Amino acid sequence: MTSPRTRRLAVLASGQGTNLRALLDAGELGGSIVVVLSDRADAGALAIARERGVAAEALDPGRARARLGGDAEAAWLARLAEADVDTILLAGFMRILDARFLAAYPGRILNIHPSLLPAFPGTHAIARALEHGVRVTGCTVHLVDASVDEGPILDQTAVAIHADDTLESLTARMHSAEHALYARAVRAFLTRPFTLIGRRVTWQ
Ligand code: GRF
Repeated sequence: MTSPRTRRLAVLASGQGTNLRALLDAGELGGSIVVVLSDRADAGALAIARERGVAAEALDPGRARARLGGDAEAAWLARLAEADVDTILLAGFMRILDARFLAAYPGRILNIHPSLLPAFPGTHAIARALEHGVRVTGCTVHLVDASVDEGPILDQTAVAIHADDTLESLTARMHSAEHALYARAVRAFLTRPFTLIGRRVTWQ
């Protein structure tokens, strides 16, 4: 729904942070990125945030391999509450969020995934699309729920796969498409009313 105040956004990222950079460069989104958190101290996303004067911290993800562990999760939620965040953008964040985390931000966590979901959920989606031989792949921005890459779809962009594509060439085109899509989807999410019926998002 349209917000009466400027939204306060957190970006959670584990990797190089090109999507974060694109969001920071995207102009007016209807909200400000006020903090960037990572489970990896060496994440490029943290360096990008600091260059732009955005608060950035690596936090202990706990001992679970692919999730935020119980005690650690509480510390992440505390840091987000301290920053007075109301919306969370996952941008290459390689951990699954558990029920308590989701409950703290109901319907207010977005993720970008490098495939046309529901095709190729999970890791290595670009390589798997290439190996599978599909002619069209793409990227998806969706709401995060308890599933992995299955929440309601907010927006998608198609990317054609060329006969001579390599993983490198396709990844480069996918990243460009992702950067445009994530900014567009976040802007719409923060500024345009929508209805959610079943899994179906309809912009008003
Ligand atoms: C992107 O391809 C995103 O779709 C996936 O992880 C990658 C993150 O890239 N979830 P970056 O760190 O934003 O460059």
